[in-house]
Amino acid sequence: MMPLHFKEITEAPAPFFNLLPPDWQEGIVPQWPIYQSTARIFALKKKGEIHCGGIVFPTVSPDTQAYREEAQGWFGRGFLYIGFLFVPEKYRGKRYGTTWLEALEKQFPGQAFWLAIDEYGLHNFYEKNGFQLVKQVTGEFGPEWILERAANAGITTPPPAPPPFSKRR
Ligand SMILES: CC(C)(COP(=O)(O)OP(=O)(O)OC[C@H]1O[C@@H](n2cnc3c(N)ncnc32)[C@H](O)[C@@H]1OP(=O)(O)O)[C@@H](O)C(=O)NCCC(=O)NCCS
Repeated sequence: MMPLHFKEITEAPAPFFNLLPPDWQEGIVPQWPIYQSTARIFALKKKGEIHCGGIVFPTVSPDTQAYREEAQGWFGRGFLYIGFLFVPEKYRGKRYGTTWLEALEKQFPGQAFWLAIDEYGLHNFYEKNGFQLVKQVTGEFGPEWILERAANAGITTPPPAPPPFSKRR
């Protein structure tokens, strides 16, 4: 099997932007100059071709401006936002989205993330990846649902040891 590479492509985002549907491009490309010094784009590549990409924002992203004050709350609590996560149609359902999220966790160990979905059914995909649905908000184009994954949510820690057995006297 050809190896998959998880790479930061913030400095050369065009191949990622070109994959996105036109309405997503409208949402990010004209705004990118405002975000490019803080947001980071990561791509999962195979044979040089992007199989999944997404953007990590440390500030209110273009797609969450409709509820920017609320969005600000997550950043205040140390969360980063995942936006524009995208797998080209021909590669969907082959775990590239899942692999991208797992690689992101390795890239940012111990980091908490949040994101928004505008299609309710997508919560299944994110829940399988350790996210929890926390609330519904009103986005620019209608209802959206917020999911979050606490720091280290994917890492299983052993349960605390039971208290030492005390002998009755
Ligand atoms: C959503 C998306 C990123 C998922 O990536 P993917 O590589 O296709 O997903 P995976 O193969 O890793 O899926 C893992 C699981 O999530 C489920 N899943 C994937 N897409 C789903 C969807 N749209 N609705 C419900 N469940 C979904 C799969 O059924 C799979 O379950 P399984 O492990 O039981 O088979 C991708 O399909 C995509 O880019 N879609 C269009 C853009 C989009 O909606 N992006 C999300 C923006 S918030």
